Amino acid sequence: MPALTRLADALLDRAVVPGYSKLGPALRRRWWPADPVRGSMRGRRVLVTGATSGIGTAIAEELLTLGATVHVLGRDRTRTDDLVARLTRERPGAQLHAEVCDVGDLDAVRAWAADFTSRVADLHGLVHNAGALPAQRSETAQGHELTLAVHVLGPHLMTALLADTLAADAAVVWMSSGGMYGAGLRDDDLEFTDGEYSGVRAYARTKRMQVVLAAEWARRLRGRHVYSTHPGWVATDGVTTSIPAFGKLMAPLLRTPADGADTTVWLVATRPPSRPPHFWHDRAQRPSTLGWERGQDPGTVRRFLTAVDDLAGVSGS
Ligand SMILES: NC(=O)c1ccc[n+]([C@@H]2O[C@H](COP(=O)([O-])OP(=O)(O)OC[C@H]3O[C@@H](n4cnc5c(N)ncnc54)[C@H](OP(=O)(O)O)[C@@H]3O)[C@@H](O)[C@H]2O)c1
Repeated sequence: MPALTRLADALLDRAVVPGYSKLGPALRRRWWPADPVRGSMRGRRVLVTGATSGIGTAIAEELLTLGATVHVLGRDRTRTDDLVARLTRERPGAQLHAEVCDVGDLDAVRAWAADFTSRVADLHGLVHNAGALPAQRSETAQGHELTLAVHVLGPHLMTALLADTLAADAAVVWMSSGGMYGAGLRDDDLEFTDGEYSGVRAYARTKRMQVVLAAEWARRLRGRHVYSTHPGWVATDGVTTSIPAFGKLMAPLLRTPADGADTTVWLVATRPPSRPPHFWHDRAQRPSTLGWERGQDPGTVRRFLTAVDDLAGVSGS
């Protein structure tokens, strides 16, 4: 990429509003790397969580277009079966499977993974896309705060349980959020019990945790391609329901779900080389902290990883 284009791209990113809105991909499309080749995912199998809505549905649709076999995971049997029925109707011959699991329920993740690995021998892509921004604090069946469970503990456990099923060149993508720039990593109060609960703060902090976990899984799954990404600001039911004022104000500038899905699909299909901290947006690696912040304290990262391993029942290595 020529130096001037690289500068324009970086300025878009740091200026946030133009970069994260639909203007980002509209401009970057002129210089970003080539699209994945149609059919390039034939014979490759990808699991997408949070596939029943918004960005997750768009990821599943685009992967099918590229020829992949797609396992769409939802927590509600009817919604998941309805999605499979619609996509099969629209794309005769599509290789689609419905998976039902609440990723925030660690017992459900264990039971589902045992069943999945008994059916599937090799997985070429794992997309941790399920997400939630709750108004109030709530706890899962195991007593974990919801965003910690859905964004962090469930996907962490799922990755560990599927590790042996991941093909040698598999891609794992964690769908984080630009909101994580406003939250540093902490190794205390992971369950958000101190002080007044804020769903926005819990969301941002757990999205930061996802970026740190992706970098850790890149180390643990040596050889596989592990990334975190953020989709920009995307018009989805999640935005309309969880942050309606933002959704209304930004409506003319929000990306389509397909634009929000773009980088994830591109990462899974092309598996570009990546360096720590493995954070991507609009088909380019981006810094995971703001320029004036210090790097992450290694001690905090170590204590955070130990805590997450313990809470999810994963043996770290
Ligand atoms: N939209 C944006 O602007 C934006 C920006 C930054 C990051 N993101 C991230 O992108 C991802 C997708 O967001 P979206 O905007 O497409 O949201 P969405 O429309 O609300 O979709 C979220 C998906 O996650 C699923 N989900 C939630 N909790 C789950 C659980 N416990 N187990 C299994 N599935 C669960 C939902 O399933 P149900 O259908 O059953 O509810 C739904 O399919 C999220 O991780 C979000 O944080 C979005």
